[in-house]
Amino acid sequence: MKIGIILCTCGTQLEEKIDFNELEKLANDLPDVVIVKRVDMLCKSPEKYLKDLIKVDRILFVGCSERSSLTFNEDRIIKCLKNMGIDPALFEVVNIREQCAWIHDNKEEATRKAKDQMLMAYVKLRSNVKSYEFKDIMRKVLIIGGGVAGLSCAISLAKMGIQTTLVEKKPYIGGLTCHIPFIWQSESYASVCTSECIIPVLNREAMFEENITILTNSEIIDVKKENGNFKVKILKKPTFVNPDSCISCGKCSEVCPVEVKLEFRSRKAIDKDFILAMPDSYNIIENACIKCGECLKVCPTNAIDLNAKPKIFDDTFGAVVIATGFKEERSPFISLTELESLITRKFDGNPPQSIAYILCKKDEAGYCSKLCCPIVVKQVARLAMMYPEMEITVIYKSLRTYGRSFESFRRLAEIRGVEFVQAEVNDIKKVENKFKIITDKGEFEADLVVTPEPFKSGDEEILKLFGVLVDENGFPIEFQPRNLHPSETYSDRIFVIGGAKGFRDVQESVESGRAIAARIYEILNGRIQKFVSVVDESKCSKCGICVTVCPHNAISTDGKIDAAFCKGCGLCYTSCPSKAIELINLEDKQLLDMAEVAFKNIKDKEPRILAFLCYWCSYAAADLMGFRRLKLPASFRSIRVRCSASVNPEVILRILAENKADAVLIAGCPPKNCHHMWGNNVEVRRVKMLKSIMGDYGSRVRWEHIGVAMWDKLAKVLKAMYDELKSTLINH
Ligand code: FES
Repeated sequence: MKIGIILCTCGTQLEEKIDFNELEKLANDLPDVVIVKRVDMLCKSPEKYLKDLIKVDRILFVGCSERSSLTFNEDRIIKCLKNMGIDPALFEVVNIREQCAWIHDNKEEATRKAKDQMLMAYVKLRSNVKSYEFKDIMRKVLIIGGGVAGLSCAISLAKMGIQTTLVEKKPYIGGLTCHIPFIWQSESYASVCTSECIIPVLNREAMFEENITILTNSEIIDVKKENGNFKVKILKKPTFVNPDSCISCGKCSEVCPVEVKLEFRSRKAIDKDFILAMPDSYNIIENACIKCGECLKVCPTNAIDLNAKPKIFDDTFGAVVIATGFKEERSPFISLTELESLITRKFDGNPPQSIAYILCKKDEAGYCSKLCCPIVVKQVARLAMMYPEMEITVIYKSLRTYGRSFESFRRLAEIRGVEFVQAEVNDIKKVENKFKIITDKGEFEADLVVTPEPFKSGDEEILKLFGVLVDENGFPIEFQPRNLHPSETYSDRIFVIGGAKGFRDVQESVESGRAIAARIYEILNGRIQKFVSVVDESKCSKCGICVTVCPHNAISTDGKIDAAFCKGCGLCYTSCPSKAIELINLEDKQLLDMAEVAFKNIKDKEPRILAFLCYWCSYAAADLMGFRRLKLPASFRSIRVRCSASVNPEVILRILAENKADAVLIAGCPPKNCHHMWGNNVEVRRVKMLKSIMGDYGSRVRWEHIGVAMWDKLAKVLKAMYDELKSTLINH
């Protein structure tokens, strides 16, 4: 083992608070250290300084925090190490700036702490093993749902050279937008675009792009994770018309004797879904067709095969995009989507004389669907222009015409005579052929009542099949932090975009499709993972606890962990009753080894507080104590863990029982903010249980929810622990 240590003075400022000669001496005395280098600002030109370390195989960097430094972040470090041919797992950082020099004024004590933190990182570095590199991830993407979001994503990926398969349940692509004649643009005035323009543009681009395979009338029937990829079974149902032969002449439909009602309209059993549907082909509605054969007789190209059979395909993908759109719940009256269909058909020649819209179901649903108000103002503006005589009333509790264009739709509607009434609806009665709407502002009459219903994610079954975690309303939960990972789910390389993820209009859906393509491109370029859970199958009792606790769906029901899907949180590791799982590079033994040396240099009778801080929130809060220059006694040492749940209660118990520390703090993300979904909840329960069995000693263990911005709370907690211990230690 050849270890190189770089001591960075951060432009000499750290030397004012820490004795670097002592640090350097300690570094030189450590076994297997072959080079120690003191530099002023590694971050300014790391390549220049690191080149002297080319012969080492492990590096310890002593300086700023890799979590919070504004000039030296983890990605930059990884890039440098890769260039040097050093595995990023064989590298550790000792944070002597944010959590040492910046928060401790006493130079002697700060130096003692810096030495301890260096020893801790050193012992860990020695036992680290190489990271996992995933090179076998297929550069092929499965997109489920051929609406505007899915199509946009497929087109962008294809143009980046990535093979994409788009699976659509319907016999045509374009999704819900195909049925919305007038869509809106987010311009600063009321403006509409037609789907008859937008849809063919997107459809043709996707249909004739060689990197895209489109499977319509198809669905996913099975998925398995294997070697970092998704092995998928796709069922392609027959449309009974060969799209390569069909010339869309419509003769088949003319002679078809069967009429069915589908998607709010009457259709023939062999039909084209809408005039501009792509593939440009007729198809048979299987349940409606009576196989009379009339269509066969008139088809000029012999494109119809009434005996066509379904096919099943197997394929493997490196990433999955779920773009199954949204659905509106059924309305007891007319829903927005039904009305959209009626407007498209010009009410089948029989428009009502009066329409009343009743908004909104936000309180009932527990959330705002966001799109109902904009759709309503667009529809009423349109209706008022199409039917100037029609009486249109919008009864609302609160009207939210967000964004740039919708308020102007509302103004346009008002100019055209649409009445907007803010009122509470008490009852709706049917009186003869009319509806009577009784509100606290009076009574209204209408021929047609439209009640926008809450929107839901389009295909909950698909989300379930792919193990996507959903919230109480069935929408996918984004990976934390949501604002940085807006379309990523807790399952690695499964993305949800467009209306399936929430409420998106056409423009927003296209944006989300395009944006996620760039993210997928990055991810498919391979990944190095320092922290990974692995199972020793000879010890595994197949109890299944790991499968249940894994928030990332990385463990199959037979207890096999696919490392390429593992995010290294350690939840499975700390939950396994058979000790069959290892968390590579953050094992209990490593934590205990670090605890062993954590207070080697502390003064006698000084409280020894060991803080396990979660990777995402609490450790960053500790760094921010430094950025804010809070002042604290130099008696705590921190260990950055992947998630608070990576800390096994046994480790805490042993640290205290073996007198490695006087007290232990475990801090994790605030409730509902854990990056591993329920990791902090699990740890809260464990700590509670541990304290209950520890009797008086339980007061030496403390749990805290510490979010990034809670640096002051963390400082107060550490200070309170210090004061309490100080008085105890003095009294003994
Ligand atoms: Fe912070 Fe889980 S990641 S507690």
